[in-house]
Amino acid sequence: MRVIETIADMKAFIKMNKEKGKSIGLVPTMGALHEGHLTLMRRARESCDVVVATIFVNPTQFGPGEDFQSYPRDLSGDSEKAASAGVDVLFHPLAAEMYPPGYATFINVRGITEKLCGISRPGHFQGVATIVTKLLNIIQPDRAFFGQKDAQQVLVIRRMVQDLNLDAAIEMVPIVRESDGLAQSSRNVYLCPEERNAALVLFRSLKKAEQAVSNGERSIGRLKDLVKKEIAAERLASIDYVEMYGYPDLQPLEELRGQVLLALAVRIGKTRLIDNMILEDSPACC
Ligand code: PAJ
Repeated sequence: MRVIETIADMKAFIKMNKEKGKSIGLVPTMGALHEGHLTLMRRARESCDVVVATIFVNPTQFGPGEDFQSYPRDLSGDSEKAASAGVDVLFHPLAAEMYPPGYATFINVRGITEKLCGISRPGHFQGVATIVTKLLNIIQPDRAFFGQKDAQQVLVIRRMVQDLNLDAAIEMVPIVRESDGLAQSSRNVYLCPEERNAALVLFRSLKKAEQAVSNGERSIGRLKDLVKKEIAAERLASIDYVEMYGYPDLQPLEELRGQVLLALAVRIGKTRLIDNMILEDSPACC
């Protein structure tokens, strides 16, 4: 596996491979790789000739007072993991390479960024949309892989790719969880053992809602209340948001109809965790 640090070298590598007719898969990450990231990489490996993963802790998607400085960084561990998942190239630019002095251009997706994490993290999706556009332009992938863990992020990127006539197919990979249900996240390392245990309330509350739906509950208000009540019972947890919107358009609904995104952001101590589940009124079964 090669590590590339400059945009010029990355573009030269892509040009050479495109000339050979190779398909390119892209997995953008901020590093501190875990099974969630590695699953995206393996998925890219299965369907593309050349797999590029990026590790870049993108300063423009962190707000003031967020964890940009303390975000976990481990390039040597990440390199080993990415290589074992079949990555061909790790693109790892410096911040000054991506945002040189005088940098002034940002991508702003309206509408779907104005709810959920867009409210609690103003400017976050502008930073995400900007860096992902830059990565798509530099790497020109046939497919780019993102996790359902950040379901709103996938919707923002799909909207942007469509609106800006970009060529990459955006693939969404299901949430990868620990064996006890906690969604894998680079931020789980912030949790002390007591908080790690408390963090199980996110998945537990999603499962409660899923169970209620399979028992026939259709009221969005009652489903949200059920989830909030479950989270409120956990002493170390405080709710940032519990929301349900039609999926994938994120329109408000009163009754469960078609697919609905149940999305949570919860603080466990000082750590903000997100999780979600896509619920359906008539699951394909029987
Ligand atoms: P990061 O949080 O490192 O996540 C990189 C990718 O891994 C994202 O697509 C995310 O949804 C996916 N991912 C994280 N945890 C996952 C899990 N448990 N199961 C499945 N997929 C998971 O998301 C970002 O970085 C950044 O915003 C980025 C897109 C790289 C732009 O800077």
